[in-house]
Amino acid sequence: MASHPKIVAVGGGKGGVGKSTVSILLAFWFARMGKQTILVDADLGGANLHTFMGIKNPPRTLNDFVTKRYDSLEEISLNTEMENLHLIAGASDILSLANIHVSQKAKLIQNLARLDADYVILDLGAGTSYNVLDFFLVAEKKVVVMTPQPISIQNAYAFIRNTVYRRLSQLVSQKSSLQTIIKTAMDTNNELKVRTISELLQIIQELNGREAMTALQEEIRKIQPFIVTNMTRTNRDKGAGRVIQMVAEKYLMIHSVDLGSIVYDQKLYAMVTDMLPLTNLIQSSDAFASVYGMAMTLLRDE
Ligand SMILES: Nc1ncnc2c1ncn2[C@@H]1O[C@H](COP(=O)(O)OP(=O)(O)O)[C@@H](O)[C@H]1O
Ligand SMILES: [Mg+2]
Repeated sequence: MASHPKIVAVGGGKGGVGKSTVSILLAFWFARMGKQTILVDADLGGANLHTFMGIKNPPRTLNDFVTKRYDSLEEISLNTEMENLHLIAGASDILSLANIHVSQKAKLIQNLARLDADYVILDLGAGTSYNVLDFFLVAEKKVVVMTPQPISIQNAYAFIRNTVYRRLSQLVSQKSSLQTIIKTAMDTNNELKVRTISELLQIIQELNGREAMTALQEEIRKIQPFIVTNMTRTNRDKGAGRVIQMVAEKYLMIHSVDLGSIVYDQKLYAMVTDMLPLTNLIQSSDAFASVYGMAMTLLRDE
């Protein structure tokens, strides 16, 4: 029987918070722990993982798969300097992938889930477009990256909220009346006066009965994102994850796990500025060390 890789997706709103960095550092730890790991640049609009990995011009990219130049993702997967670690590079030149067709997206997701590896790590793009959310939702482990700044915490919350609504709308795709209600409730100033997921579920229960409501509630509970606070400089910064946890529980019925924080690492910053591959980072990097516990937590329940 073919075994499936575990998919880890790294997302969370805005650009520049460190999604790519976290994806890479997690991938390094996974590979180091002997897991066959494929790092995938799923930032369909602004691929740059290959640069971080010290590959200037990737010979094959996701674009070659989407445009059918290659039939399988295995064929476009690149070796890296690191044992156990492979890279599927994103399309560096074109924006076409940002508008990937629904059927292409479905095919890509199917093929990611069939990759021959222990772990597939998806580095997602910024924002909360359906393309980003749909990749996030297929992952078994959903990592949300933010920085300790209030605006970033808000963005991370909005990202999780959008994920919940996207999931709900997937679940009721056959029922147009519920689709409409969910769409209306998504607007933070909606005429239904729905402010929380629990209020939304209440309305759904009144319309479709308790069973329908409970089924949706159970699916939402499965989302369980892992929160990473990146670029922390003070002890106070490290508490940002707790804030999201509380708010997500209260308003979205989402139980999240605080994965911890990654310190602001001058060395890492300098390497990226000088375009040096992050593989050099493994020796004595504070950021790399911060991610160890996170990798362990994600690997734990195998
Ligand atoms: N912990 C950190 N310490 C120092 N610099 C960081 C850290 N995490 C990310 N950076 C820097 O922040 C910038 C944005 O990171 P990146 O991973 O590209 O974010 P995203 O993928 O979310 O757009 C990069 O220049 C990166 O080197
Ligand atoms: Mg990125």
